[in-house]
Amino acid sequence: MPQDTELAVRTIGISKEFFGQSVLEDVDFDLRWGEIHALLGENGAGKSTLCSILAGLYHPTRGEMMLAGAPYSPHSPHAALEAGVGMVYQHFRLVEQMTVAENILLGNPDVPVRMTASGLAGRAREVMDRHGLWIEPTKYVGDLAVGEKQQAEILRLLNRGVKVLILDEPTAVLTPREAEALFAALRNLADQGRGVILVTHKLREVQQSADTVTVLRSGKKVAHQRVDDTTTHDLARLMIGDDLEPGSGSVDASHTTGDKLLELHSVSVVSDAATRPELDGVNLTVRAGQIVGVAGVSGNGQRELAEVITGLRTTTSGTIRLRGEDISSQTIGGRIKKGMGFVPEDRLTRGLVLGLEIEDNVLLRSQRDRGFRIGPFLRLSAINQWARRLIDRFDIRGVRKGLPISVLSGGNLQRLILARELSRQPALLVASEPTRGLDVGAAEAVQTILKAERGRGVGILLFSGDLEEVLGISDEVVVMYEGRVVASRPASEVDVAQVGRWMAGLT
Ligand SMILES: Nc1ncnc2c1ncn2[C@@H]1O[C@H](COP(=O)(O)OP(=O)(O)OP(=O)(O)O)[C@@H](O)[C@H]1O
Ligand SMILES: [Mg+2]
Repeated sequence: MPQDTELAVRTIGISKEFFGQSVLEDVDFDLRWGEIHALLGENGAGKSTLCSILAGLYHPTRGEMMLAGAPYSPHSPHAALEAGVGMVYQHFRLVEQMTVAENILLGNPDVPVRMTASGLAGRAREVMDRHGLWIEPTKYVGDLAVGEKQQAEILRLLNRGVKVLILDEPTAVLTPREAEALFAALRNLADQGRGVILVTHKLREVQQSADTVTVLRSGKKVAHQRVDDTTTHDLARLMIGDDLEPGSGSVDASHTTGDKLLELHSVSVVSDAATRPELDGVNLTVRAGQIVGVAGVSGNGQRELAEVITGLRTTTSGTIRLRGEDISSQTIGGRIKKGMGFVPEDRLTRGLVLGLEIEDNVLLRSQRDRGFRIGPFLRLSAINQWARRLIDRFDIRGVRKGLPISVLSGGNLQRLILARELSRQPALLVASEPTRGLDVGAAEAVQTILKAERGRGVGILLFSGDLEEVLGISDEVVVMYEGRVVASRPASEVDVAQVGRWMAGLT
């Protein structure tokens, strides 16, 4: 690793404006070789923007950058990568129709143009062995769980020889165990002399895994410290400002558990390529006014389960009933009409249309609602008013009239999807990772909203890799392992250790 100077990256007075609005202001940021440097801040603080500037996706409005002591101003992500700076985006950029091996080796000049599939897989395995990360190389990326996609993305960058690796909220999509494995891999990369930037909201992760931390608040750098010299409390105060409130002791709305809303009987999914069924005889019930939390290590069938319930994937056998009616062969639209709401795991590819303005996105699922139409025409003022109300209620920040929602920060996009789904008042909400990527305050706000919906009688099926969240807000916990439901218990009767054992396939 060429280490001409101690500093891998230095930014000097970086500012960024979007449409005249300042998003980063005069940010000085230093990354040393061999360190893991956490970048911390609330939703919308400017973390992704700063990283995207380093990775050549955006150009700063003002300011300079240095890489290994030399001036650095990449004009594209490709140029940044050539210079040795690679970023794993908050939302991945893999080609879904290609295999893991193809994605990892893509664009590597050493790989011959013609190579057999097994040759490619062998090459990919070498790369994985070298870096201590593992995914089945012959799988198609479209079939991977989000956690696996991320590893593929990291491997792709490492295979291109990056010296500076930027990860934008990598653990938001991982289970605690996967996160630990990732940190071990990152430590290894740092020990080899690379510089690693880790964007996160999770204070505990900063303490556990980073050497230094930079805190951004509203686009300004408010601190740069060695992690050993801080506490999580200090960091929280720096992130949020002085108005940090102690836990507001959220009170559960009293709720009654009522009729069966969703029932799955022996639901299986077998795809030709798979050696074992992706779903194997799953039985599951969600009642009105109940939160059922699905726990499991990512890749054990949770995603397939969410997809058969919402209609993105068809069952091989078994039945799915919604309010008593067999919906197994209904379309997604049909299920929505019957009262199902859906917060997808992959919010950018499935949840939203990024080129559309915010009002259109909020409207996506309510196009047929009468109040918004006069004959064939949309009532724009009613729509605007309604969108405004949702934006206030869910505290969605960064919305500007006429701009596509692709400009929102990751956390605000997530709130927008939740707002849209709940505004339709579904009887059953299927929520995949609804708090992933949200900062502490926003995650709590979403959990409070979910609990309030439960209080109003909505049935919620919650998929979450955050075990504490599952145990914290669910009434019933369901554990998946290798496509099967291996345990189903009232949340009050289980603890983290027990659920962890089930997740690992132990009894
Ligand atoms: N392309 C863009 N055009 C206009 N505004 C943008 C653009 N990209 C980001 N912004 C705005 O800049 C601000 C900072 O966004 P950024 O994505 O950097 O936040 P973040 O710290 O990564 O937040 P999160 O934790 O939610 O991902 C937000 O208000 C966002 O709406
Ligand atoms: Mg971000």
